[in-house]
Amino acid sequence: MTDHWPTAITDIEPNSVRVRGYDIAELMGRISFGQAVYLIIRGELPDEATGRLMESIIVASIDHGATPPSAMAARTLASTGATLSASVGAGLMSINAHHGGAIMNCALQLGEISERATASKCSLEEAATAQLADWKNESIRMSGFGHRVHSADPRTARLFNLAREAGAFGDHCHTAMAVEAAFASLGKPLPINVDGAMGAVLADLGFEPEVMNGLFMIARTPGLIAHVREEQTRMKPMRKVMPGQHQYDGPEARGLPS
Ligand SMILES: CC(C)(COP(=O)(O)OP(=O)(O)OC[C@H]1O[C@@H](n2cnc3c(N)ncnc32)[C@H](O)[C@@H]1OP(=O)(O)O)[C@@H](O)C(=O)NCCC(=O)NCCS
Repeated sequence: MTDHWPTAITDIEPNSVRVRGYDIAELMGRISFGQAVYLIIRGELPDEATGRLMESIIVASIDHGATPPSAMAARTLASTGATLSASVGAGLMSINAHHGGAIMNCALQLGEISERATASKCSLEEAATAQLADWKNESIRMSGFGHRVHSADPRTARLFNLAREAGAFGDHCHTAMAVEAAFASLGKPLPINVDGAMGAVLADLGFEPEVMNGLFMIARTPGLIAHVREEQTRMKPMRKVMPGQHQYDGPEARGLPS
């Protein structure tokens, strides 16, 4: 076995596929996609509530309309005649520190604030106020806060409620609330955006920061596929893809069937 390199993710044998040790045919139809994503990344099967929380994180970020840079990049590439994979790939490549990629940085920054509170024996809000002032002097923004469109991101409150239900509302989520309060008392109310809420919840679930932006990529991929197919089927090739000049003409607001 010495000339083989190790992998602990999936074991393939003739007529057998085992993901992290579990028979994939047994998992199919029994576990949710959220549980499967947790299992493949973390190596252990989570309980159903954690799976639901994972899935709500994925649903929260499935799309945010035609203007985000990832949708623009994917549509621009599609308009040149590029393939589905190349166009979706371009969208995924635009997920970085300032778009969809604030998740990891937010989790790390929340950790720093929480450590400061412990070290200085002060409240989370006092530590947040002091840390935000230090970062402002260094021209560092608090990742996961602020939004170009929303003053109260509708996804954040729902995600935090689901985290409470799953028993996963921990130190990072409390710190995020303290940061929001600190911004408000500094006279600069900035909402926790979906990246920030994801960073806090994923950190409280114990995800390593380096993998967090991947959750956004998983979530946004179906949205990007929809944008690319719409571009390929409804728009003329090589058009100027202008941000903000689109008009929604999909279904009217509707409720879920009861
Ligand atoms: C999302 C974002 C780009 C929206 O920015 P915007 O609404 O266009 O706001 P601006 O960039 O014009 O900034 C306006 C002011 O708010 C401040 N500000 C905005 N977001 C801030 C943040 N996250 N941390 C600290 N200050 C922030 C700016 O410094 C600026 O202050 P000034 O008026 O004293 O110069 C911005 O809030 C940001 O950079 N957030 C952090 C990255 C992030 O979370 N990205 C994911 C978005 S879903």
